[in-house]
Amino acid sequence: MCGIVGAVGINNPRDYALKGLKMLEYRGYDSAGVGFLDQGIKIYKDVGSPEHLGDILPTEIKTDTIIGHTRWATHGMPSKENSHPHISAQRKIALVHNGVIENAHDIKVFLKEKGYSFYSKTDTELVVNLLEYYYFEYKDMIQALIKVRSILDGSYALVIVSEDHPGTLFMLKKGSPLLIGKGNGFNLVASDASPMINFTNEFVDLDDYDFGYINKDEIRIFDKDSKEVNKPIIHKDVELISHDLKGYPHYMLKEIEEIDEVVKRLVSNYYQDNKYIFDDNLIKDLKESDHIMFLGCGTSYHASLVGGRLFENINNISTSKYIASEWAFHPTFPGQKPFVILISQSGETADLIHCMNVIKEKKIRSLLITNTPGCTLSKGVTYTLQLYAGVEISVASTKAYAAQVALLALLAGAINKDPKIVEDLKGTVKVIENIQKTLKEPIAQIAEEIKDNEHVFFLGRSFDYFLSLEASLKLKEISYIHSEAYPGGELKHGPIALIKEGLPVIVFITDPITASSMRSNIEEVKSRGAKVYVISTKDLAIPKDTLIVENYPYYLSSVAISSIAFYLAYYVSLKKGYNVDKPHNLAKSVTVE
Ligand code: AGP
Ligand code: GLU
Repeated sequence: MCGIVGAVGINNPRDYALKGLKMLEYRGYDSAGVGFLDQGIKIYKDVGSPEHLGDILPTEIKTDTIIGHTRWATHGMPSKENSHPHISAQRKIALVHNGVIENAHDIKVFLKEKGYSFYSKTDTELVVNLLEYYYFEYKDMIQALIKVRSILDGSYALVIVSEDHPGTLFMLKKGSPLLIGKGNGFNLVASDASPMINFTNEFVDLDDYDFGYINKDEIRIFDKDSKEVNKPIIHKDVELISHDLKGYPHYMLKEIEEIDEVVKRLVSNYYQDNKYIFDDNLIKDLKESDHIMFLGCGTSYHASLVGGRLFENINNISTSKYIASEWAFHPTFPGQKPFVILISQSGETADLIHCMNVIKEKKIRSLLITNTPGCTLSKGVTYTLQLYAGVEISVASTKAYAAQVALLALLAGAINKDPKIVEDLKGTVKVIENIQKTLKEPIAQIAEEIKDNEHVFFLGRSFDYFLSLEASLKLKEISYIHSEAYPGGELKHGPIALIKEGLPVIVFITDPITASSMRSNIEEVKSRGAKVYVISTKDLAIPKDTLIVENYPYYLSSVAISSIAFYLAYYVSLKKGYNVDKPHNLAKSVTVE
């Protein structure tokens, strides 16, 4: 995970690095550090946030060459020693790294034989020493980078300062993102565009195995064959990558409250003049395929469960849905002509990259649904569709989930050229807005009542069950309450044993076909002492239900009322005094397997 920044020639490098790291904190936040050239390589780093780094960094630093890092530890616990940047034994080179070196052990053995010893437990310290070793051997940084690239296995975005090259940042990348920001009299580099967007809107995206360097006037990139390449300049939509909290106390709350806009934007981007706007070849591939496989992790996997069911119900296509990390090691391709849909908000998830490589090798056609233009996954699939949800900063995914489901519904609609899906989706916007306007207080009240419980259950059937899974994940992630989600009908086959006096059970009833069965399930848990909270749609409600929402077509639960689940998790976390946006042990993009 980890966020990287780097700059050469910029006016206030300290400010750029600290503000940039703050913006990249969503990628990892256990420690932070910067390194710069000022009569040798200087490094300041510690466990904690970029704000804390600001406290230990001199207020004035004299340099025009700086690198910075915010970490999500993979090798070695969060500690000052393990924080980045890492510096080589002879203090010639320092670097920041995003990724995981899979052959770290072999490199360590090699370096130990050469007399190196190590101060940290990271794989990154091995890389910086390997680079120094070959830099000494070749006396040329480019040759050393080519050699190191040929040795490293795994993923890496590396930004490097070298004592012998003032005013220059070197870089090397595979599997982790790295974007160069082209300035006038300065150049920048970062894991994503957000730290750079206030300085430039001209970016160069690096591909795997690219390496090169920037100085204040030049950007020079070499490709996998070590040939110099002229990369295209790309531009970013400033609004969609803005990190402005817009007056909200937390990103999560802001992002929940953007769901209505996200749905509207998706509809208007993919349906214009009474026609679906999707690549004809994509629709043809989907129609011709006899089996659609969905792959995702966490929240995106939950979206894939909804998507799969939509394709089955609306298009009558057989589907399977897999957790990416499960499928990756035992891949199966049902049907004669399978098509794969990968879902990833970040577009960087390592488990999915593993799957993508398997799919590519088999030459199976694939689609990525993502919120991140130019992401790693988009480079290996046949088609990519953007969610246009705007950058999602809170580690707990909210608007991206609703957008994933809405886009999958649109795609299912496009296959059958069915305009009703669009009307149904538009209809959810009113439901979402009503929840925002009228239900926050009552949801906060439920949060107050459940916040001190150790366990919570969510129940639903069909599409409400898929939403329950997501509601449960969200609560776990940010409130640290153990929670389970079950299909209403499955409860009696085991988990009902856990129901006891006072246990909160949150039930979604929005599906007319299963509503009466769900009511029976409620009686089953009530009679065992559970404290039941029912969320239902007007037509299916009974007066005692806890929250009653406007009607909507039941297959769109995850779009129309997911905000209820998200608000609930948000308020529980808030009331318990936790860091809502940055929960323990998690990071926004999970770039390790
Ligand atoms: C969501 O709240 C989680 N933080 C997590 O489950 C996430 O959805 C998962 O890691 C997949 O991420 P992706 O969509 O970026 O691939
Ligand atoms: N492997 C490096 C470390 O543990 C970088 C971690 C990452 O990018 O996720 O410090």
